[in-house]
Amino acid sequence: MKINKLNTGIVVSAMLLMSCSSQDIMIDDFESGTFDKWKVEGDAFSSTPAKGSFPGQQDVKDFQGTYLANSFNGGDDSRGTLLSKDFTIERNYINFLLGGGMHSDTYIELIVDGKSTYITRSIVESESLLQMTWDVTKYKGKTAAIKIVDNQRGGWGHILVDNIEMSNTSKSNIMPDYTLSFDASMNYLLVPVEDQGPESSVQLSVDGQKVGVPMNIRVSQTKVDHWVPINIEAYKGKPVSLTFGHVKKTDIGFAQIKQSETFDYDYNEKYRPAYHFSPQYGWMNDPNGMVYYNGEYHLFFQSNPYGSRWANMHWGHAISSNLVKWEYKPTSLAPDSIGSIFSGSAVVDKNNTAGFGKDAIVAIYTSAGALQTQSLAYSLDKGRTFTKYEHNPVLSDPKIADFRDPKVFWHQKTNQWIMSLATSQTITFYGSKNLKQWNKLSEFGEGIGNHDGVWECPDLFPLKYNGQLKWVLLASINPGGPNGGSATQYFIGDFDGKSFNPDMTIPYPVWLDYGRDNYAGVTWNNIPDADGRRLFIGWMNNWDYANFVPTLNFRSAMTLPRELKLANNGKHVVLANYPVHELESLRSETVLLENISTDKEFVIEKLLNVNNGAYELEMEVDVLESEEFVLELQNKSKEHLDFIFDLKNETLNVDRSKSGIVDINEKFASVVSKAPLTKKDKYKIRLFIDSASSELFIDEGAVTQTNIMFPGEPYNSLLIKNKGKVLKINNIKIHKLK
Ligand code: FRU
Repeated sequence: MKINKLNTGIVVSAMLLMSCSSQDIMIDDFESGTFDKWKVEGDAFSSTPAKGSFPGQQDVKDFQGTYLANSFNGGDDSRGTLLSKDFTIERNYINFLLGGGMHSDTYIELIVDGKSTYITRSIVESESLLQMTWDVTKYKGKTAAIKIVDNQRGGWGHILVDNIEMSNTSKSNIMPDYTLSFDASMNYLLVPVEDQGPESSVQLSVDGQKVGVPMNIRVSQTKVDHWVPINIEAYKGKPVSLTFGHVKKTDIGFAQIKQSETFDYDYNEKYRPAYHFSPQYGWMNDPNGMVYYNGEYHLFFQSNPYGSRWANMHWGHAISSNLVKWEYKPTSLAPDSIGSIFSGSAVVDKNNTAGFGKDAIVAIYTSAGALQTQSLAYSLDKGRTFTKYEHNPVLSDPKIADFRDPKVFWHQKTNQWIMSLATSQTITFYGSKNLKQWNKLSEFGEGIGNHDGVWECPDLFPLKYNGQLKWVLLASINPGGPNGGSATQYFIGDFDGKSFNPDMTIPYPVWLDYGRDNYAGVTWNNIPDADGRRLFIGWMNNWDYANFVPTLNFRSAMTLPRELKLANNGKHVVLANYPVHELESLRSETVLLENISTDKEFVIEKLLNVNNGAYELEMEVDVLESEEFVLELQNKSKEHLDFIFDLKNETLNVDRSKSGIVDINEKFASVVSKAPLTKKDKYKIRLFIDSASSELFIDEGAVTQTNIMFPGEPYNSLLIKNKGKVLKINNIKIHKLK
C-alpha cells in the first residue's frame, strides 16, 4: 500500500494521541520540595515535604525520590491536613504509596464532585509505604480533590504518602475500601471463608447507610473451607453493599459472595457431637446468661456467627425444657459502638428493680471495646429478643484492662443484687438495688489460689454441706490450669453480703475438673427452690488450641450439664460435679456385662454392635491389691485413649497422646492430664463418650476429667490392664446414647 505523507502524519499523531492518553499523570510526588499544590493545615506535615523520617521516627522506607508527605513532624501527637487543588480525573486509576498508622483518624481521602468517595488507611502499622490503588473508572471527567488527614494523637498517630498519580494501570494488588453491591432479594448473603486465612473487615450498608459495626471475616483468599451467612432478610427490595477494608485482586473469595434463600449449616461433620450442645455453625466459647424461666432453661453463649474461630463476639442462644435437647434460637446480642458482647449472666427481675418491666430477663454482659465495661439488655418476651439499655455501660473502671464477665444474683439477706466480676487476677464484688448503679463491696483473691494467668468468668453461689450453708466461688483462669492452659479453680467459704472468706482447710488451688477441656463454666440462675439443684455447664475446650481443633463449619461443644454438690474426697471437701439425671433419658440400649476379675489384662472386644461414637460406660471397681489399673479405649486403627488409675501415686491420669489426630498444635497432647485421686478400696466410674469428647466421673463427680480427642473412628473396645494382684470390675454397663 502506498502511504502518502499526509496519511503517515495522521497515523503518527493518532499513535501519539493513544500513547498520550495512556501516560501516567503525576498529581504529586512531592519532589518539588514544596506543598505548592496543597493547602496545609496544622503542623503535622510541617510546611514542606519531609526528606524521609523526622527526628525520633523509625526509618521511613519504600517512598520514591527524596521527598514524601509525612505527618510525624513534632511526633505522633501533632495533627494536620493536606488538601490538594481540584483536578480532573483523566485515567481509570489513582495509584499512591501509603504507610503509617491504621487509626480511623489517619487516612487519605478522595473527594469527587464535593463528595467523599474513598477513605483509605494503611493496612499495617508500618514506616514502609505500600502501593495502593483507587479504581476511579466511573468518575472519569469529574472534578476531584485529595485530602490527607492526621487527626490522631499517640502511638502510630501519623500517615505517610507519596507518588500520587493517575494511571490506566492499577499498580497495586490491594484494593482498599472495596465495595460489592447487591439488590437484596433473598434471605442471606453467603460469604466463602478460609478457616486459617487472615481476617478482613467487612461493613454492611443498606441504602448507603452503615448497619452495625464492621464484621471480621476470614474471606477466602486461596480456598473455600466453608460458608457463613449474613442475614439480609429484613432488607429485601433495598440496595445492600459490603465494603471490605481492602481485598487483594488475587483473592478468590469476594467475587463468589452470592445471595441465597437458604443457608445449609449441616456439613455432616465427623466430630459433631450427638448429645452435647454445639453451635449450629460458627465458633462458640463460654456459656453465658444461663437462667431458668417459665419451664425453660436458657443457654446463651459466646458466638462468632461469621466464622469458626474466635472473633465478632455475639451472644448465641438456645432453649431447652429438659437440659437434654436444645433448640437453636436466633442470635440475641450483637456488637455495637461500645464493643463486642463478652461473657455475662442473666437474671429474672421479679420485682422490677431496674424498671424494665416485671419479670424482665435482664442480661448483664461485658461490652469489650477500647475498654471493658459492663452493660445491660432486657427481654420482655421470655428471652426471645433483647433491647439494650440506652445508658450503657453501667459499670466501668478505666484503670483495669481485664474487667469482665459479670455474674449477678439476688442476695435475699441484704436485699440487693450482687455482681462477681473478674478484675485482672482477683474477683471484685459489687452491690446494686436496681442493676444500674453499682457500688464496690470487696475484692477477693490476692495471695490465694493460682495466679499464673488472668481470672475470668466468676460465679458465687451457696451450697449446703452436712446441713450447713457454704458459699462456693468459681474463678476460671487462663493460662494456669493444673495441666496447662485454661481451667476453673474454686474456693469454698462464707459470704455475708459484702465479702467472701475462704475456708483455709482446703489445699488451694483446687479445680472443678482436672481435664484439659472444661472452661469458663458457671451455673444457672433462678432454678426453682423446689428443685434446689445448682446446675452447671462449661465450655469443653481450652484456649491452648481451641481455634485449631479439626472441625470446620462449627467449633466447640459444651460439657454435659452437671449438678454441683459439696462432697468429701477422702481428704477434704471438694466441689463434686456430676451429669444431671435427665441425661439418663438418652439411653437407647443397655448391655450388662459379666463381672470381670483379672490380675493382668482383659479385653472387652466389642462395646456396641453398632457404635456411632455416642455411649456411656458404668462400672464399679474393687481395687483389692491393684497398684495401678488402666482403662484403655481402643479402635481398629490402634488409636487409644488411656485412663490410668495410679493408686500408688494417688493420681488419675488421662493420656490422649495416641488418641487420634493430635498434631492440632504442640500443646494438645504434650502432657498427660493428672488429677488427684485418693486411694480407696472401691471406685464408682462413669465415662461419657460423644464423638470427640470424654468425660470421666469418679465417685459421683468427686474427681472429674474432661478431655476432647479426635479418633479416626469410634473406640469400640476396652482393654483393662492391671498391675499388682487381682482387680475386680463389677456391674459393667454399656449404654448406647441417642
Ligand atoms: C473466657 C473469656 C472471657 C471473655 C470471653 C470472650 O473464655 O476470655 O473472659 O468474656 O472469653 O469471648
